[in-house]
Amino acid sequence: MTRVLFVCLGNICRSPSAQGVFEARLAERGLQSAFEVDSAGTGGYHAGEPPDRRAQAAARRRGYDISGQRARAVRDGDFHQFDLILAMDRSNLSNLLQRAPANCRAKVRLFMSGVRGWPEEVPDPYFGGDQGFEQVLDMLDAASDALLAEQGY
Ligand code: 4NP
Repeated sequence: MTRVLFVCLGNICRSPSAQGVFEARLAERGLQSAFEVDSAGTGGYHAGEPPDRRAQAAARRRGYDISGQRARAVRDGDFHQFDLILAMDRSNLSNLLQRAPANCRAKVRLFMSGVRGWPEEVPDPYFGGDQGFEQVLDMLDAASDALLAEQGY
């Protein structure tokens, strides 16, 4: 069992989308029992809220339902509980690395790191248009496939 935590800033756009895309991949391939998946934000401004309506709509267009997720802030215990802590952008990454105990830092990296053909950061779609949400899903698709391959699936 590999425990994966997706992290962005608000936990209402990118990381709940990442959780939704990755969970959909696991379901397609019957791998749900091999992974435990969650998401969180480095900021807690939206704690308790469902994903942004535009993120929910973009996910729904591709057949994922992320409406049941609720935002939460990263907790200190997450660094111990999860095996992989995957940041959406460099700001999330540096925030996580500052907080992580030294013996947990190796778990923390960019989700897009090493994913061929894409930039290393998932851009924040919150202040943009619908197209930003579509691009985010394209990136998360590619990174989810790369993560499964890296994990031997
Ligand atoms: P996320 O997007 O980090 O992808 O969830 C954001 C959502 C809200 C805010 C920032 C980023 N905000 O500042 O409210």
